[in-house]
Amino acid sequence: MLTIGVLVSGGGTNFQAIIDAIASGQLTDTKIVTLVSSNPNAYALERAKKHNINATCIRKKDYETDILYQQALIDHMKEKKVELVVMAGFMVVIGSLFIKEFENRIINIHPSLIPSFCGNGYYGLKVHEAALEKGVKVTGATVHFVTEETDAGPIIMQKPVAVLEGDTPEQLQKRVMEEAEWKILPDSIQLFAHNRLKVIENHVKIC
Ligand code: GAR
Repeated sequence: MLTIGVLVSGGGTNFQAIIDAIASGQLTDTKIVTLVSSNPNAYALERAKKHNINATCIRKKDYETDILYQQALIDHMKEKKVELVVMAGFMVVIGSLFIKEFENRIINIHPSLIPSFCGNGYYGLKVHEAALEKGVKVTGATVHFVTEETDAGPIIMQKPVAVLEGDTPEQLQKRVMEEAEWKILPDSIQLFAHNRLKVIENHVKIC
């Protein structure tokens, strides 16, 4: 059984997609052992409560240094015996201490086809605003392993989504979530849970 810890900052629809995929049997041999929010008002915390999932809020600003914050996150994940960390709408840039501790055991969902519209400053709705500004006809979502360079780790899965005439950033965000994110995040966890992901020279091989 793969134990996962989910990191969130907001609504938690991707967190919900993981819960639903486990409930439906689409995602197997996987248990969510903790939800950690960076924001005490995140709706994701309500979702955890509703599904009896252990949840807590760990805020960077409550720690004197970034290292102490990262250590608190590490301690929590270790205490809960987390094997895979899933960033599901986590809006904090995480430092190297945490990343090294969980090397090749942290995945992130990003709402674009990396390497487009990613890196520092590209998160949430801003990603879709940038895609519309550029006038791309296709966007999508990416699940990747987390490395020290933001959104640059080995890519696990991607799914394209059409941009439609007259889309607002909110409409595009909703379509990317529905058509891509809520599918490829549980699917990527399923591959990890069944030892089907191998990272070789910064590339993911699905075996
Ligand atoms: C999702 O679109 C996710 O891809 C994005 O934030 C949203 C969170 O929604 N993540 C990033 O932008 C990370 N760089 P949710 O809380 O409803 O899952």
